[in-house]
Amino acid sequence: MSIHPNIEKASWLIGKFRGEGGKGEYPTIPPFTYTEEIDFTAGPPSKPFIHYQQKTWNSKGEPLHTESGYLRFPANGTIEFVNSEPTGVTEIYQGTLTTPHTLTLKLTSIARTPTAKSPNTKDVVRVFEFNPTTQTIHSTMDMATDTTPTLTRHLEITLVKK
Ligand code: HEM
Repeated sequence: MSIHPNIEKASWLIGKFRGEGGKGEYPTIPPFTYTEEIDFTAGPPSKPFIHYQQKTWNSKGEPLHTESGYLRFPANGTIEFVNSEPTGVTEIYQGTLTTPHTLTLKLTSIARTPTAKSPNTKDVVRVFEFNPTTQTIHSTMDMATDTTPTLTRHLEITLVKK
């Protein structure tokens, strides 16, 4: 499969991943477990992006959070992530390969539709760490909100490449 040269450094992301037994938590909510599927689809060879589609389910198999966006690999060598959620929230992140197989994404801006519910997310750090031996991604998400102002764990899961 041919991909744009700019995305080769993160080609370990490309594929379909699924994880069960994800841990969801936050100081303001009861802990929960979740199942997650992520499809990272390379754009056409002429376009330096990876399409990101995420779906989750609760322990009863009912749909939970879902989101979708693009990882962009511009010519200046940086990684950018633009993501949108059906809750009326859209986020922009700056990404870095903190190791060759670890993508760390830090929120740089967020916008909300007029009816997006509170509390407002103020900061987010997402980490995707690939293990080539097990073909798994360990994913974590820490966030701060206007009522929980320090970065605090919300999500942790290990996803297996399908
Ligand atoms: C795997 C993906 C996710 C799952 C399964 C998930 C699940 C949940 C659940 C079950 C709750 C508690 C009920 C509720 O308030 O709706 C919650 C709360 C929340 N989530 Fe998530 N979430 C996910 C991703 C995200 C993302 C990406 C963000 C923001 C960028 C986010 C922000 C929040 C906020 C702000 C709250 C409210 C916390 C509070 O009341 O203090 N979540 N999440």
